[in-house]
Amino acid sequence: MADTDAQKQENRIFPPPPDFARNATISGMDAYKAMCAEADRDYEGFWAKLAKDNLAWHKPFSKTLNESNAPFYKWFEDGQLNVSYNCLDRNLENGNADKTAIIFEADDGKVTRVTYRELHERVCKLANALKSIGIKKGDRVVIYMPMSVEGIAAMQACARIGATHSVVFGGFSAKSLQERIIDAGAVAVITADEQARGGKHLPLKAIVDEAIGMGGCDAVRNVIIYRRTGGNINLVRGRDVWLHELVDKQPASCDPEWVEAEHPLFILYTSGSTGKPKGVQHSSAGYLLWALLTMKWTFDIKPQDIFWCTADIGWVTGHTYITYGPLAAGATQIVFEGVPTYPNAGRFWDMIQKHKATIFYTAPTAIRSLIKAADADAQVHPNQYDLSSLRLLGSVGEPINPEAWMWYYRNVGRERCPVVDTFWQTETGGHMITPLPGATPLVPGSCTLPLPGIMAAVVDETGQALPNGQGGILVVKRPWPSMIRTIWGDPERFKKSYFPEELGGKTYLAGDGAVRDEKTGYFTITGRIDDVLNVSGHRMGTMEIESALVANALVAEAAVVGKPDETTGEAICAFVVLKRARPSGDEARQIAKELRDWVAKEIGPIAKPKEIRFGDNLPKTRSGKIMRRLLRVLAKGEEITQDVSTLENPAILEQLKQS
Ligand code: PRX
Repeated sequence: MADTDAQKQENRIFPPPPDFARNATISGMDAYKAMCAEADRDYEGFWAKLAKDNLAWHKPFSKTLNESNAPFYKWFEDGQLNVSYNCLDRNLENGNADKTAIIFEADDGKVTRVTYRELHERVCKLANALKSIGIKKGDRVVIYMPMSVEGIAAMQACARIGATHSVVFGGFSAKSLQERIIDAGAVAVITADEQARGGKHLPLKAIVDEAIGMGGCDAVRNVIIYRRTGGNINLVRGRDVWLHELVDKQPASCDPEWVEAEHPLFILYTSGSTGKPKGVQHSSAGYLLWALLTMKWTFDIKPQDIFWCTADIGWVTGHTYITYGPLAAGATQIVFEGVPTYPNAGRFWDMIQKHKATIFYTAPTAIRSLIKAADADAQVHPNQYDLSSLRLLGSVGEPINPEAWMWYYRNVGRERCPVVDTFWQTETGGHMITPLPGATPLVPGSCTLPLPGIMAAVVDETGQALPNGQGGILVVKRPWPSMIRTIWGDPERFKKSYFPEELGGKTYLAGDGAVRDEKTGYFTITGRIDDVLNVSGHRMGTMEIESALVANALVAEAAVVGKPDETTGEAICAFVVLKRARPSGDEARQIAKELRDWVAKEIGPIAKPKEIRFGDNLPKTRSGKIMRRLLRVLAKGEEITQDVSTLENPAILEQLKQS
């Protein structure tokens, strides 16, 4: 599905539909520019006003930004609030009590609706339940749950009592879960017996048992289990409790714990350049402010909208655009338990039609796989469904190629709906560079312009600004409220990773390359500049996968690189040297399978290499450094045209090319 060169020289422009622009929260480029100018003129005043107007404060803040200990910035420092109060109680007070907060569609198609009043009650009961087992403000709680109202309620309940949650995606292995439980020092784990996805039941509680059984999780006093499927599980006496048993006894109201603006709302682990995942720590007030503002600005959320973000709560997109943003905005949202291809690849379109979704937000990988499915089977083509309820489409998590963008725009949005290609990261808390649907003329493949207040720029390695048209590294020059506060337990790594000395120590380094269009100044993200891969919108460190591979008894050495993939964006390609002789034929296939399963067990199925090649050695410099740039070329199946004079063992290239 490669885009033609003509498409890469993108010159199609789609101005906002006039109807949309007329009613939009940010209506037109003049309005956008005025907001940017306001932020330029009085940066702190700009944010202070937004924070006062958009959040309900228990104690108002008097200082907007504290930069004295940069890059450990503090926002709205002396203010106090509660995130769950802002998401739930505020809606009861605003006349939204009987409004549907969540339309939940289970894997098997069963639909349940939950109003704001009901959700508030569920969260209060769960919050009381957590308190009843001794969980208090500042404690860390790991959440390892399926997509469910209970999962969202668990996050909100933690927020209500000031406990810091750390959600671990249900696809991660026992070992990954154990590492995160230990790193966060979690006192409890909230999980489910099993998850239902694509017609299958997959264990969750058994994986929690395995993770805790690996040792080191001594701080965990309780495991709380939501009964989802009724599948068989082991109950550990004194430690394990059923969620329903714990909750049923609880009162239906729970006073929120007022926390400082900077109180850590959550830690979310993500991959970096080294083998160890980073616990990205977010604040309460600054984070929530941006979750809410981007709902208003990027998604133009209106009271009558039916919003649907297809992400999982295990990723940041599910945090900001399922658990926090839509609820803070008082919206009605769809929450989906299953997968886009079950019972068939028309599931998303069917659900949009059935629930009359107005705003749809998904990942390019999903779009690309649904394009393939629709090409193969006309029955699951979006043109078979009534999608007239839609008014806005969004894309997130990886670059969207112009061809997929056009398909999405034409076939799903029927050329009526703007497509917002939102660039952001776990660390940024919410959207950073994105079109505004009622203002920004769209260009397929470009995330266009930074949101008001976001001082994004493209610079060279010394921090010097580069002219438009010249590719460089993406930075953010000023702190913003929803930015990462630190890496949990590792402030030095936080400084080194995001605020390197070479850039002056105060400029946020996103880790992506970018280029701005010469005429429009629009940004295009050119991909990660570090050893991080993006496979199906899932972020993974090459080192993490290499560490997993070398932990296998058969493996002597491994190097992992990404290669372009039509559906998943990037695919994982591993070059492996075994302790025994290089295998070939069936033996090679057998060992490759073993290693793939091994990686799934060590990290999770999402980290399985698509391709494994065996060599007697890896291409190395004379000082022993693996030359990954050559491996990247080999992985793509291209000829090596680069200089290989520093290579110790050039013959190895031929071997790795063939294997
Ligand atoms: O490389 C960028 C890519 O995804 C990375 C962030 O991944 P993660 O922290 O898992 O968050 C994903 C959901 C926000 C970025 O460094 N990325 C994300 N959105 C886009 C993107 N690349 C291009 N275009 C995007 N819209």
